[in-house]
Amino acid sequence: MGSPGTCNGLVLNSKTIRMSKSFDIGLEALAAGSSGATPTRAATQIAGAASTDVAAFSGSPAAPNGKSFYIETFGCQMNAHDSEKVAGVLLARGYSAADSMAQADLVLYNTCSIREKAAQKVFSRLGEMRYASPRKIIAVLGCVAQQEGEEIFERAPWVSLVCGSASYRKLPDLVAQLEEGGRRITGLDLDTDETFETEITRRDNPIRAYITIIEGCDYACSYCVVPHTRGPERSRASASVLAEARRLAGAGYTEVQLLGQTVNSYRDSSPHGLSFVELLREVAAVDGIRRVRFTTSHPNDFHREIVEAIDATPELCDHVHLPVQSGSTPILRAMRRTYTRDEYLEKISWIRAARRPISITSDVIVGFPGETEKDFEETIALLETVGYDGVFSFKYSPRPNTSATDMPDAIPEEEKSKRLAILMDRQRQIQIARNEKLVGGAFEVLVDGRHESHNQWAGRTTSNRPVNFTSPLQSLLGEYVQVKITRASANSVAGEQVL
Ligand code: 5AD
Ligand code: SF4
Repeated sequence: MGSPGTCNGLVLNSKTIRMSKSFDIGLEALAAGSSGATPTRAATQIAGAASTDVAAFSGSPAAPNGKSFYIETFGCQMNAHDSEKVAGVLLARGYSAADSMAQADLVLYNTCSIREKAAQKVFSRLGEMRYASPRKIIAVLGCVAQQEGEEIFERAPWVSLVCGSASYRKLPDLVAQLEEGGRRITGLDLDTDETFETEITRRDNPIRAYITIIEGCDYACSYCVVPHTRGPERSRASASVLAEARRLAGAGYTEVQLLGQTVNSYRDSSPHGLSFVELLREVAAVDGIRRVRFTTSHPNDFHREIVEAIDATPELCDHVHLPVQSGSTPILRAMRRTYTRDEYLEKISWIRAARRPISITSDVIVGFPGETEKDFEETIALLETVGYDGVFSFKYSPRPNTSATDMPDAIPEEEKSKRLAILMDRQRQIQIARNEKLVGGAFEVLVDGRHESHNQWAGRTTSNRPVNFTSPLQSLLGEYVQVKITRASANSVAGEQVL
């Protein structure tokens, strides 16, 4: 995993576009935006300057109640989108969005616990929030809320609400209890078959809109907290997904990303009974939608039909994020990943056989208990065989409530760091070689940012590759343009607009 870049904002038509400060936008950073459970590089804040596309939605904000909120989010794309929906719930109750934590009456902290480091940060940040906002109501949401539960009140007594993502559908009630002066309110129920749907969703990104299609996870990977923190898998009704896609298109969005921890395990919860591929095709057919992405795919549910659908449907983007986690079958078995190295590679061969070149990205964990030098070498060899366009790589981090925590043969921290560095270096070389092949070609780019200091525009290809380019034209944000690639680096390519 590369080093986090902080985000800055570019305000356009009262909408904030998040841009990486680092000029060389990492493929990892793009995968961060596309990986269901992968923490983003920096905490993102939904603040008043962000876009509030409430007009696009059936609900409208209630009459102002004189109170304001501020949400700080850490974690994966699912968390970022949950925060957009939580903001919608509050707007529907008459809250307004504060520009900063200092100005807010209600501060919500949406947390991540996928690895130990992320979870550790939560309590120090809560301490800072206490002093920054002594008279405010502070709420903890997300995976740490679910994992630590009422323990949070013991360690941080200034917190009033603790709510895990599997209980967000109860949020309006919980907020009502807070408004009535309630203290120590919890929403920690995991036992749900409902998804979190809101009448209003505040959209933080004016170029790409996120649509949750499935929540929770029914797999039981031995290292992962997600089944515990996000609850069992539940799919949304297809009509609701399609209605949201239509509303987004009506509001001017041309790119949508379907989200789920295991997005391709989707099974329509309504009598329509759409399969994942049928849903993909229907979203792609929505008038005005030009790009459809989906993440994160589980290899076990990755079938040939997905590749066939991408081949047959221009709106489906040329990118699959297919986390492998390890290249060694014994380690995959210990991880309970439900596939072998060869079965994974077979799925890769379907993708490589597609008529359109499809970019493939992945997640890899190094230093899982019992991982030998040979196992690790198999992972490195797999990177070469697949030729990934981007990889998130992580040192194994033991997590509470997971079966791997007690496994023997833990790998020393130093060895994990060494393996991570080797893997990242190898992957960097692979990406440079892959990106260099693009030099001389021209690609369609959806423009999503501007680097003022470099006088360049930024955008993405359908394969989700970051492109920085020059253009004599003004006001390109949200436009589709052709860019000729002249230079390549590990994490992005650069070029000039073809006019
Ligand atoms: N330690 C290290 N990495 C982990 N991931 C999930 N759990 C752990 C853990 N305990 C990684 C996996 C997953 C990504 C989102 O985070 O690679 O795909
Ligand atoms: Fe975690 Fe495995 Fe579920 Fe992914 S599939 S969220 S890694 S348990």
